[in-house]
Amino acid sequence: MLPCQRHLFDIPDDVAYLNCAYMSPLMKPAFEAGTAGLARKRHPWELTADQFFRGSEEFRGVAAQILGTTADCVAIVPSAGYGVDTAARNLPVRRGQSILVLAEQFPSNYYPWQRLARAKSATLKTVPWPADDDWTLAVLEALTPDVAIAALPHVQWTSGGRLDLVRIGEACRNIGAALALDLTQSLGALPFRVNDVQPDFAVAASYKWLLGPYSIGMLYAAPKWHKGTPLEEGWIQRDNARDFSSLILYSDGYDSGARRFDMGERSNFALLPAATRAMRQILEWGVEEISATSGAMNLRLAEAAAEMGFSAPREPLRAPHYLCLRRGTSIPPELTQALAREHVYVSVRGSSMRVSPHIYNTAADCERLIACLRQFA
Ligand SMILES: Cc1ncc(COP(=O)(O)O)c(C=O)c1O
Repeated sequence: MLPCQRHLFDIPDDVAYLNCAYMSPLMKPAFEAGTAGLARKRHPWELTADQFFRGSEEFRGVAAQILGTTADCVAIVPSAGYGVDTAARNLPVRRGQSILVLAEQFPSNYYPWQRLARAKSATLKTVPWPADDDWTLAVLEALTPDVAIAALPHVQWTSGGRLDLVRIGEACRNIGAALALDLTQSLGALPFRVNDVQPDFAVAASYKWLLGPYSIGMLYAAPKWHKGTPLEEGWIQRDNARDFSSLILYSDGYDSGARRFDMGERSNFALLPAATRAMRQILEWGVEEISATSGAMNLRLAEAAAEMGFSAPREPLRAPHYLCLRRGTSIPPELTQALAREHVYVSVRGSSMRVSPHIYNTAADCERLIACLRQFA
């Protein structure tokens, strides 16, 4: 368990921000790294060609540590959707085969597969919401030999349900299905190792659990896809990009590893240093420790909310850092209004209230949420 790290963030005392699954606050050292990077643009004459590569490689190296892989397997992307689209562009599927997604899957990990299925006359097969909250079992049952691609998250985002990706990865390999992952609601707060799961592609936007800025993220691409087709054909992904004077000696070769999948203008001088700094801090704290610390807050919240008639999937079927509370068919609008009045921030989505604390939260933040719930017991 980690001590509260609120001092590193700019969160006023009267704000109970329990909404990391929506957008994490940028910690002070990451903000400083980002603004120092932005300031470089004031003096472009000081920017050297080398700086277009150095920050990107730093980001790649730290992202690789978080994923449990090597920098060579990491591409820099602007969004989860971009990474999923890259996977969909490269993974093969034939007429009559299936692409597996979960019920209520996040749109960025749905539309690219819907388009691919339509283009190839394949079927988009949806894993139904499991009555017993066991998403892993539901996925394993749905992994029949017709499945060519399983496009999944680590945490189902409207329930908090956790998928056992090690078992699912093994089941995919057994039937020859590819595995594409959206880790946006888990990476940084739920332990994940590429080698244990062996996905083909895995993407994570950085602005939630990686505590980074908006509009930057990472894409893992397994070595077998390193000769794949990128979404963009820009200059910086090519093998001659380091020599600025010879860019028009067009090259058929790409930079090494997953770098060919990088987005255009990936050398973002403001976003990359901020994202890298935040990930370094996460590595220093430890993902296991972050998971345990936010998990303990959620256990306390789930227990108190149960007394008020709310229910949620239980661990280990639920990810520790991610709590979706349900009661009846909807959350009363008066409760939403009371939360806003009290500066208690959670996400209310239809029938569920999503609570997602991090290590900047205090026990007092949790008690303030409980006090609001009590008013509507
Ligand atoms: C599961 C999941 N994936 C991805 C995203 C973000 O997608 P994108 O980076 O394409 O905007 C979100 C945002 O809420 C999410 O919940």
